[in-house]
Amino acid sequence: MVKIAVIGSVSMDLVVTASKRPLAGETLIGESFHTVPGGKGANQAVAASRLGADVEMIGRVGDDAFGTEIVDNLKKNGVSVTNVEPVTHCASGTAHITLAEGDNSIIVVKGANDEVTPDFIKGAEDVLKQADMILIQHETPADTVEYVAEFCHRFGKKLLLNPAPARELSREVIEYASFITPNEHEYAVLFGDQNRSDVLAQYPNKLIITEGKNGVRYHNGTSEVVVPAYVVEAVDTTGAGDTFNAAFAVAVAEGKEISEAIKFANRAASLSITKFGAQGGMPTRVQVEGSL
Ligand code: RIB
Repeated sequence: MVKIAVIGSVSMDLVVTASKRPLAGETLIGESFHTVPGGKGANQAVAASRLGADVEMIGRVGDDAFGTEIVDNLKKNGVSVTNVEPVTHCASGTAHITLAEGDNSIIVVKGANDEVTPDFIKGAEDVLKQADMILIQHETPADTVEYVAEFCHRFGKKLLLNPAPARELSREVIEYASFITPNEHEYAVLFGDQNRSDVLAQYPNKLIITEGKNGVRYHNGTSEVVVPAYVVEAVDTTGAGDTFNAAFAVAVAEGKEISEAIKFANRAASLSITKFGAQGGMPTRVQVEGSL
């Protein structure tokens, strides 16, 4: 069983479904409201655990009811929470999600996730040293990402950086990461208007651009490749990127070739969007392998 350490956000998603999005100044009557566990870090941890990895979450919750629910949900999904600590006088992170017109829009309030600082990470360094793969995203402070990238470089650890939501990155962080997985919007923030094929060729087998239903693009050292996505009827696309990242990390940690790992991750991500909620459709190992 491969060991995966996820550093990142653990949040509660507050999800409204509606027939359309409100305009500025407009009030609409919605269709439903649900609270479901989310946060890019927690989502990736749960997805990796369902796919059979031994997963350690490193994150922070508030000392509130959401915090208790978030931790219980991680435990229920087999994720170790030894390094998920409550922060006093601080709310748990929340994501305010509108599902309308076949897509989501999200506002994240980071709350306790902003307390995942370099100092906090220092307390979990032994866990990081034992991991086969470390995952991090952009819902924690930028200096934490820098610290973790430098740590991984120093100790020869594999780091998958999922740069979501979009934020600029230093050249060192890009160099130190083993894999960077932006979507097209995040790619544009990282690399601006540089020629995409040139940038991909500069980072072979490292820069993996997820393009939704158009598949996943990367450079394999010889040529640029697009691995097609699986076509399914989407119920809720929230968490598809997280499932992709977790599945890709698990597959690579297990020794799969990059193209095979992307195929496996594409399949897992496609299954994840067939149910409601970021974690609702995240598949088990058996479900992914049975459908490949
Ligand atoms: O990637 C999806 C996640 O992003 C949601 O679960 C929500 O928490 C937001 O942070």
